[in-house]
Amino acid sequence: MVQSIGHKFKIGVFISGRGSNLKNLLDFSKKNRTNWKISLIISNKKNANGIKYAQKYKIPYKIFENKIQIFEKKSLIILKKKKINLIFLTGFMRILSKRFIKKLKIKILNIHPSLLPKYKGINTHERVIKNREKFTGCTVHYVTSKLDSGRIIIQKKLRIYKKDNPKTLSKKILLLEHQSYPEALQKICN
Ligand code: GRF
Repeated sequence: MVQSIGHKFKIGVFISGRGSNLKNLLDFSKKNRTNWKISLIISNKKNANGIKYAQKYKIPYKIFENKIQIFEKKSLIILKKKKINLIFLTGFMRILSKRFIKKLKIKILNIHPSLLPKYKGINTHERVIKNREKFTGCTVHYVTSKLDSGRIIIQKKLRIYKKDNPKTLSKKILLLEHQSYPEALQKICN
């Protein structure tokens, strides 16, 4: 359980690209009474589409297009300054170091488009179809320095039909992802 007494949990979101999970969380917190708010967005790509949501919703954001060590150093300073309680990775395409995770002392969550521990890494939908799996899904889990590992918080399952392909799976799983992150927050921010 994440601790934050007397005020909302402050969430930091790390992005690299599209940012649909970020947008979904921002929309969710506008429409619902939440005990958390997105207080900082960090991107490692200056042309990440998600930055436009930071601008639209007037959320402070930083772009650190550096090698991972410098990225982590700069992130650590701003995360501490903003007193962030929890970090969400949404399509963040870097592996954070053990040192950073240890120094940060707050929980980091990630969302992955497969039923972990199966299909870690990229091109999950292609591999799932190739292996003729009957089910796939998405997983919200705590982050460790090992790729797509760490304790599972929420997992949502989806049946794969004969007519499915990587594109249809990707669409359906994204909808599941958009339910999963708000649910995970509900679960851990009490
Ligand atoms: C999602 O499919 C997530 O599972 C994976 O990267 C994608 C990010 O999408 N880790 P978005 O940037 O949130 O739209």
